[in-house]
Amino acid sequence: MTVSLGGLRIVVSAGPTFEDIDPVRFIGNRSSGKMGFAIAAAAARRGADVLLVAGPVALPTPGGVQRVDVRSAAQMREAVLAALPADVYIGAAAVADFTPRFPATHKLKKSAGGDAMLLDLVRTPDILAQVATQARRPRLVVGFAAETQDLARSARGKLHDKRVDMIVANQVGVAGSGFEADDNALTVFDADGSHALGAGPKTQLAERLLDLVHARLQRAGAAPAPNPTIPGPTQA
Ligand code: CTP
Repeated sequence: MTVSLGGLRIVVSAGPTFEDIDPVRFIGNRSSGKMGFAIAAAAARRGADVLLVAGPVALPTPGGVQRVDVRSAAQMREAVLAALPADVYIGAAAVADFTPRFPATHKLKKSAGGDAMLLDLVRTPDILAQVATQARRPRLVVGFAAETQDLARSARGKLHDKRVDMIVANQVGVAGSGFEADDNALTVFDADGSHALGAGPKTQLAERLLDLVHARLQRAGAAPAPNPTIPGPTQA
């Protein structure tokens, strides 16, 4: 049985961010947005009020989902914070960690720099950590961790450092899984330990992740009852 997420507002971020170097060049990454879009689609099908903050991706908007398109990490941060308050934040976007300090207003010419070029980059704001530590914190904050090595240790580190409730870890750099692929293999880390969601299509993994989100909210007394015809406890 698919559990309902009716009555919940869920904000999902998805895709990469592009950080402009000049009007024709940018720093990007290989995120396709498929995982975040699958989560948004599945949450909307389950009745949630879903806002999807999407980086530059070539994907159609899932049915019933409200979408805000952004390009850079700074724009994504602004859109995510403006979307709060929410019950749940799921940060599936692969946000750039660094952005050019001074994006050029005109195309950089190679003749200006000789044989080499240095880019001056500064850290972007950590959107996930900011969502998790602000006053209007969603009841459940879920982050992703894309790793090529030391998956469990890095995921647990992010769970602790970013003060989030769950980290969904996936091994990237493996053929047929992770970035750009339709399939993935996910493990969720939370305060209780780790839960393998298994491997499979991102659409299927999104459903499993939402089951876990629902269970976690129910434990905290915040999820809709699985059967809406059964009255819940009266509020004191
Ligand atoms: N994230 C974010 N803002 C950033 C960087 C990352 O919100 N500026 C979020 C991502 O959306 C994801 C989580 O943090 O939910 C982890 O992203 P990841 O790229 O795996 O880790 P980083 O924090 O960037 O750390 P590192 O690159 O060192 O592994």
